[in-house]
Amino acid sequence: MGFVDLHSHVLYGVDDGAPDSSTAVAMLDGLAALGITEQCVTPHQKSGQYLPDWDRIEQTLSQLETQRKTTHPTLRLGAENMWDDVFYRRAADGTVPHYRDTPAFLFEISPSLMPVGLADRLFKFRMAGAVPVMAHPERYQALWDDDELARTLRSSCAFVVDLGAVGGFHGKRETKAARHLLETGLACAVATDAHQLGDLQQAAAGLSWIDKKLGHAAVVRLFDHAPRAILAGELPD
Ligand SMILES: [Fe+2]
Repeated sequence: MGFVDLHSHVLYGVDDGAPDSSTAVAMLDGLAALGITEQCVTPHQKSGQYLPDWDRIEQTLSQLETQRKTTHPTLRLGAENMWDDVFYRRAADGTVPHYRDTPAFLFEISPSLMPVGLADRLFKFRMAGAVPVMAHPERYQALWDDDELARTLRSSCAFVVDLGAVGGFHGKRETKAARHLLETGLACAVATDAHQLGDLQQAAAGLSWIDKKLGHAAVVRLFDHAPRAILAGELPD
């Protein structure tokens, strides 16, 4: 079947990810080498920083499709939605960019500040049939020593840990949190969150850690079965 990567910045020239098409193609080579057969491209949607015109995103995706080799993973468009004023407006309008053709959407929050009413909002999204997917939960300080809060949020959203953090490359505290979320089963999937070529080696180190410490079945569950379930509109246990 192959792995499914829910989070990457391979789409070029639209955020702080791949700067150009040749880098994007080289990244797809590397992602294919990791065993990924479906690659979600999730450009930042962040008020005041990265809000590229959606037409430009679509255009870049079409261009990348023409440069994609047959050995590369297939591409699925999504977005990494910062939980900000733009997100609130889009949530009210029903226009939050989702993973294409799915009820799932990826979001991030500020590392140091939990949004007020987050659990309640997530519950409401879930009740409306959406699958909220939290990017890199290991970064959020409020979750570092609070498994109870993590369990509450987790009941209405999926936690997708960055492999680079698991591998030990995103800071000591983040690594500890990423591994803890995996060991406790609170994380339900992993992703590369690849911004540049070097991130792929870090992701490989994260996969090796999971393989060694939790076993190969965990790799398959976290990087194949769970992401597929999420894209199919399910919230994995
Ligand atoms: Fe990201």
